Amino acid sequence: MFEPRNIIVTGGCGFIGSNFVHYVVDNHPGVHVTVLDKLTYAGSPANIAGLPADRVELVVGDICDAALLDELVPGHDAIVHYAAESHNDNSIADPEPFLRTNVEGTFRLLEAVRKHGIRYHHVSTDEVYGDLALDDPARFTEETPYHPSSPYSSTKASSDMLVRAWTRTYGLRTTISNCSNNYGPYQHVEKFIPRQITNIIDGERPKLYGRGENVRDWIHTEDHSSAVWAILTRGRVGETYLIGADGERNNITVLRMILEAMGKDPDDFDWVRDRPGHDRRYAIDSTKLRRELGWEPRHTDFAEGLRQAIAWYVDNEDWWHPAKAATEARYKAQGQ
Ligand code: NAD
Ligand code: DAU
Repeated sequence: MFEPRNIIVTGGCGFIGSNFVHYVVDNHPGVHVTVLDKLTYAGSPANIAGLPADRVELVVGDICDAALLDELVPGHDAIVHYAAESHNDNSIADPEPFLRTNVEGTFRLLEAVRKHGIRYHHVSTDEVYGDLALDDPARFTEETPYHPSSPYSSTKASSDMLVRAWTRTYGLRTTISNCSNNYGPYQHVEKFIPRQITNIIDGERPKLYGRGENVRDWIHTEDHSSAVWAILTRGRVGETYLIGADGERNNITVLRMILEAMGKDPDDFDWVRDRPGHDRRYAIDSTKLRRELGWEPRHTDFAEGLRQAIAWYVDNEDWWHPAKAATEARYKAQGQ
C-alpha cells in the first residue's frame, strides 16, 4: 500500500479536482495537498476556499511550465493529474487549447515525474473508447480498443498513450483511471446538468441536443474521488481502472427528472442543434476496480443526487451566476 503524505493535485480548482481536494481533506488527515491550477475560465479558488491553510496550498501556474514543475515537484510524493480542457463543445469550436493542456501538459508532468521519481495518477475519461450503439448490450472494459471521436476525447486518448509509453519505457510508477460522466457541486454551468438547472433558476428553458436519446453513465463526483484515492493508494502500478456506478440514463430522462424536481412541466424545454459527431452512448463495466480494490459507490440513488445538486445550485447562485451570461452567449452563437 502506498501512503502519500504530500501530493500535488493539478486542476484542483476545477469541478472534479476541487471535489477530490475536499475529499482528501475530509478523509485523510495526514495528507497535505498542493493544488497546481492555471485558473482558466473553468477554475476558481472559491472551489477550495475555507479549507485549512496548513492542509491545502494553491499554486497558480500552468502544467506546461517545465521550470515551475522542476521547482514544485521535489518534496512531493505523488501527482494526481486532473487539469485539462474538459468540455467537448469548446473543443469543437476551438481545439488548440486542448492540444496544449491535455497533450503537452501531460508530457511535461511525465517528464517531471521521470526526473523526480514520484508516483503519478492520471485522471482520464471513458470517452477515449468512443461510443456504443444505443441498443448494444456491451459496456466499456479496460480491454476496449481506443476509438475517440471528438477533439477533446482524442487529446485525452493521446495523454493516456503518453502515460502508457512513459511507464513502459522509463519504468514510471503510474496508474490511469477512465471515469464516466460526473455530477455534483462546483460543476461549471457549461455542462449538461448544471446548464439545465441554472437555466430553470434563471427563468430560461433548458436545451436538449438532437433527439435527447444519447446515453451517459452518471456518477457522483464524490464516488469518483473515493475511487481515485483507492487506485492511488492500493492500485497496481502500470494498470488502468475504469470507474463507473451503473448510472446509465438518456439525456431526455435526466432532463425530465430535473424539470420534475424543480416543479416544471416535463415538456418545458427547447430542442436545439445537435453536437457534431455526438457520441451516442457511454457505459462502464467497473468490475476490475470493485473486485481488486473493493471499491463501491455510495451515491447510488440518482434522483436523490440530482435533488442535492439542484439544492446546491439554488443555494450558490453567487458562485455560478458570473459565468452564466457568457456561457449562454457562446451556446446561442452555436445554435445551441
Ligand atoms: P474542469 O474544466 O471543471 O476543470 C479543469 C481545471 O483544470 C480548471 O481548474 C482549470 O483552471 C485547470 N486547468 C486547465 N488548463 C490548465 C493548465 N494548462 N495548467 C493548470 N491548470 C489548468 O474539468 P473537470 O470536469 O473537473 O475534469 C477534470 C478531469 O477529469 C479532466 O482531466 C477530465 O478529462 C476528467 N474527467 C472528467 C469527467 C467529467 O464528467 N467532467 C469524467 C471523467 C474524467
Ligand atoms: O464521459 C465523461 C465525459 O463527460 C468527460 O470526459 C467530459 O469532460 C465531460 O464534459 C462529459 O462529457 P459529455 O460531453 O458527455 O458532457 P456534457 O455535460 O457536455 O453533455 C452531456 C450530454 O448532454 C451529451 O450527450 C450532450 C448533451 N447536452 C449537453 C448540453 C450542454 C444537451 O443535450 N444539452 C446541453 O445543453
